[in-house]
Amino acid sequence: MKNFSLLVVFLSQTIFCQSSLTTNIDGRKTVSLNGDWQIIIDPYENGYYNYRYEPSDWGYFKNQKPRTKSDLVEYDFDKSETLKVPGDWNTQKEKLFLYEGTIWYKKDFDYYLEKGKRLFAYFGAANYKAIVYLNGNKIGEHEGGFTPFNFEITNLVKEKDNFLIVKVDNKRSREFVPTVNTDWWNYGGLTRDVILVEVPSTFIKDYFIQLDKNSKNEISGWIQLYGEKLKQNFHIKIPELQEGFSISTDESGFCKFNFKAKPVLWSPENPKLYNVLVETETDTVTERIGFRRIETKDANIFLNGKPIFLRGISAHEEAPLRGGRANNEEDARIILNWVKELNGNFIRLAHYPHNEKIVRLADELGILIWSEIPVYWTILWDNEQTYLNAQNQLTEMINRDKNRASIILWSVGNETPLSNERLIFLKKLTERVKELDNTRLITAALENHYINDSTIVIDDPFGEYLDVIGLNEYLGWYDGLPDKADRVNYQTKYNKPIIVSEFGADALQGFYGDSLTRWTEDYQVNVYEHQVKLMKRIPNLRGMSPWILMDFRSPRRPLPGIQDFYNRKGLISNKGIKKKAFYILRDFYTGIEKNSW
Ligand code: GCU
Repeated sequence: MKNFSLLVVFLSQTIFCQSSLTTNIDGRKTVSLNGDWQIIIDPYENGYYNYRYEPSDWGYFKNQKPRTKSDLVEYDFDKSETLKVPGDWNTQKEKLFLYEGTIWYKKDFDYYLEKGKRLFAYFGAANYKAIVYLNGNKIGEHEGGFTPFNFEITNLVKEKDNFLIVKVDNKRSREFVPTVNTDWWNYGGLTRDVILVEVPSTFIKDYFIQLDKNSKNEISGWIQLYGEKLKQNFHIKIPELQEGFSISTDESGFCKFNFKAKPVLWSPENPKLYNVLVETETDTVTERIGFRRIETKDANIFLNGKPIFLRGISAHEEAPLRGGRANNEEDARIILNWVKELNGNFIRLAHYPHNEKIVRLADELGILIWSEIPVYWTILWDNEQTYLNAQNQLTEMINRDKNRASIILWSVGNETPLSNERLIFLKKLTERVKELDNTRLITAALENHYINDSTIVIDDPFGEYLDVIGLNEYLGWYDGLPDKADRVNYQTKYNKPIIVSEFGADALQGFYGDSLTRWTEDYQVNVYEHQVKLMKRIPNLRGMSPWILMDFRSPRRPLPGIQDFYNRKGLISNKGIKKKAFYILRDFYTGIEKNSW
């Protein structure tokens, strides 16, 4: 009975409170629930509300079956169609392409849970709101389409015939994060893996193991146990380094630590990862961690003490070639190999946390990452719920990826309009980042403004609170013709590194013409040729992530025969075909790599 009451307390605080995420699911005993799930498409949320629009106790989550021939039950999951999980619903069924609303998912499973073990249901992500039920009982809910969540089901799971039901709703709303208008497709569904995770009664819930912020030869971090026996001895073992460390957690199962070690430092040139074992008396988790240091000094970014220029590109989480949400290692490998082909060492994962597979692969391949939460354009800055939602997504993003060497930048926003409420909102988010992780840099993609015809200044007051300034500019596309970039000068108020986080132009792959004909590959080349020259004149420029690696779907792009609901600013088409401008950027990066910036 004790566990159940703990579970209830936990649930009521989950929505916008500190993340209850168990870290590193891959390093534990798991069973995948991926595959076909039965679904019920429910635009009127008839499976949740009664006709008085009150939440019903007998909704679809009960998975009712008629017991007698006279029984009235007006739904039947087992006779219903299916959707693949992980996957968005929009690209799986033509009728769901533009669907925004509720879909109920059901998965049956058997599970023998040994005595003294605990079981969690883990979701890589569900867009946008998810309510989760096991065997007709509500086990939790989550808001935010791009971060993981898990709920304990130890006391509800049966050996046979369990049914896990999830109500997923991707309806947009003004107070949400993101808000109602975005330049990306609102893919709905169980978009990432669903996994059963078995752990001991007292288990390693979370840990942070990184090179100490202020030292080259010290590893520091913390560990948090969860369960009954919280005061335990534990070991951090790095066999290859023959280094290790043993100490004990306190009464609350927590321990901060640091110990001497001289790891080979992780970098794009040498993405060295170490097998790390976290061992307690009751649990062991295996991990692969790279140790590196990232910092700024004045207008420079230093990786492991050496100045670095970030040769990057922006990308949405769309699956190359097949479209829809990317969700597996193969998708990630195609995307990151394209970055390598660009001679890049950096990727901006826009505008929300992407799946864990691409982040772990970036660790392996040595690609640096800018990771962002969807505080995008004009959200409701003075709405407390909106703030707690944004803070929770930030917390979940950092909690999931804090042990990843590849991630060097946490971004708390993109193109957000100046106001005092906005400044207070974003400033609080930067404080939250510092509470959770003081080893990485904080950034945001800021807007800028003209002070005269040919001078643009970067003096957004939020720049004060950032380590690195992100700058989005569209000279040659939304602002003038391509050669305007030659006549504009940038000034910055801040002695801080700048990353041009966006520039670009739409081009339909295979559409050729003269260099001033919009939508042609030649116009895009024209923009890139002027932009790479401009880059050399931007003060404090220490990185770039042009918009964008691959064409992506957007409901804001209807132009027939050209866009057809695609933003065509990709350097690669949605069919994986490189456009001419791809090679302009590649050659520019090759030059930078050779001659350093
Ligand atoms: C914006 C925005 C992107 C958008 C891009 C565009 O700057 O940040 O999300 O897709 O411009 O207009 O193509």
